[in-house]
Amino acid sequence: EQDILNGLSLKNKTVLITAGPTYEAIDPVRFIGNHSSGKMGFELAKAAANLGAEVILITGPTHQTVNHSLITIIPVVSAQEMYEATHLHFNNSDIAILSAAVADYKPKNVATQKIKKKDSTLTLELEKTKDILASLGQIKTNQFLVGFALETNNELEHAKLKLKKKNLDLIVLNSLNDKGAGFKSDTNKVTLINKAEQITVFELKSKTEVATDIFNTIIKTIHA
Ligand code: CTP
Ligand code: CA
Repeated sequence: EQDILNGLSLKNKTVLITAGPTYEAIDPVRFIGNHSSGKMGFELAKAAANLGAEVILITGPTHQTVNHSLITIIPVVSAQEMYEATHLHFNNSDIAILSAAVADYKPKNVATQKIKKKDSTLTLELEKTKDILASLGQIKTNQFLVGFALETNNELEHAKLKLKKKNLDLIVLNSLNDKGAGFKSDTNKVTLINKAEQITVFELKSKTEVATDIFNTIIKTIHA
């Protein structure tokens, strides 16, 4: 891991990033989704490319756009598609940052025809999706693996648990409690926790600046 970065540059390094929400089909016209805008992931991709990295950006459905010669966008829709695309590129990556808001559950059966309105209640059976981040934590070799944690209570405790459980090198705790932070906002308030459980608290700032903070911390951690 010592040699992964030359100074403050990511030249000759490949950074894998997941971004945005996933959509889980219910029937041909409906899905279960979430409000993730994809902004944080796209800002991470731009920051990495500006540091000279080759970037693979695997993104769920968003309105974000980016045009950079070093960024390859791989659009996906469902958690399963994101899982497959991420695994396809993980072996060739030096750093993987999983910022996507992946659905935790998906409909167990996808109706082939539009579900008709009938009774006063409708029950959908859901099953767990695969945890992409945890699966990478189990197979990683030299990759520096970064996860996000979205928490509303006992934030530090929950984030530290995720860091350990998913075998991460760094976790970005996203505080939804703060005004101006989170899903749809242009700003974010994050706390970074590394493997040694060293905690760095950052102020509320633009997602562009948060992306820079994250890469500075990754570089520092790798060189420590
Ligand atoms: N993640 C993932 N695949 C999933 C679910 C989550 O890769 N199926 C990743 C997210 O991209 C994020 C991290 O896991 O980097 C944590 O996501 P989060 O929703 O905060 O945690 P979960 O482990 O899903 O637990 P919970 O939602 O119950 O807090
Ligand atoms: Ca989750």
